[in-house]
Amino acid sequence: MMIVNTIEEVRNLIKGWRKEGLSVGFVPTMGALHEGHQSLMERAVSQNDRVVASIFVNPTQFGPNEDFEAYPRDLEKDVALCKEVGVHVVFAPQGEELYFPDKATTVHISGITDVLCGSKRPGHFDGVCLVVSKFFNIIQPDRAYFGQKDAQQVAVIKRMVRDLNYEIEIVSCPIVREADGLAKSSRNLYLSKEEREAALVLNKSLEFVKKALDQGERNASILKAAILSCIIQEPLAKIDYVEVVEMESLQSISGDINCPILIPIAVYIGKTRLIDNITYAV
Ligand code: PAF
Repeated sequence: MMIVNTIEEVRNLIKGWRKEGLSVGFVPTMGALHEGHQSLMERAVSQNDRVVASIFVNPTQFGPNEDFEAYPRDLEKDVALCKEVGVHVVFAPQGEELYFPDKATTVHISGITDVLCGSKRPGHFDGVCLVVSKFFNIIQPDRAYFGQKDAQQVAVIKRMVRDLNYEIEIVSCPIVREADGLAKSSRNLYLSKEEREAALVLNKSLEFVKKALDQGERNASILKAAILSCIIQEPLAKIDYVEVVEMESLQSISGDINCPILIPIAVYIGKTRLIDNITYAV
């Protein structure tokens, strides 16, 4: 496995693979890799001749009061995992390699970025779309892999790929959970022992609502109220949002459900903001 830090190096490697007719998979990450990322990389390795994983904590997707500085970084450990899984190249751009100091271009996907995390984290998806489109232009993969835990990110990236005519298949991979149900996240590292326990309320509330859906409940407002009442019982939890939305458009539903839905939630446990979701096809 190779580790490269420059755009030129990664482009040259990929040019060589293309000459040999090899397919390329791409897994973008911000490092602090866990089993969720591992599952993306394993899927990419199984579906492509060559796999590039990027490790880059992208400053443009963090708000001024968010955790860019504190975001966990452990390049050595991340590289070891990439190697173990069978990734061919780790692309870890450093310093100003990726962004010109006088960069003047934005990538804004309107509509679906105005809701859910987009409305709570202004500018976040502009930063995600900018960095992902740069990676797509540099790497030009056949397939790119994203975790369904950030369901809005998957929807936004799919829309960007469609609207900008990228010839890239976006593969969305299932949420990976701890044995007790907590969705794997790099931000779980911020949780104290007590908060880690409290964080289980996210998955518990979604399990509860899934049971209601299985039993035939189809009213979005009732389902939303059920999640809210479950979460408010946890004293360390502060709800950021709970929604029932249409799977593709992310439009909120308040009455009866008659299409595939996404139920995304964002909850602060102490100072740590965690997200989780379920999808359901009615
Ligand atoms: O999901 C993430 O880790 C990031 O948003 C991504 C896609 C790597 C872009 O920085």
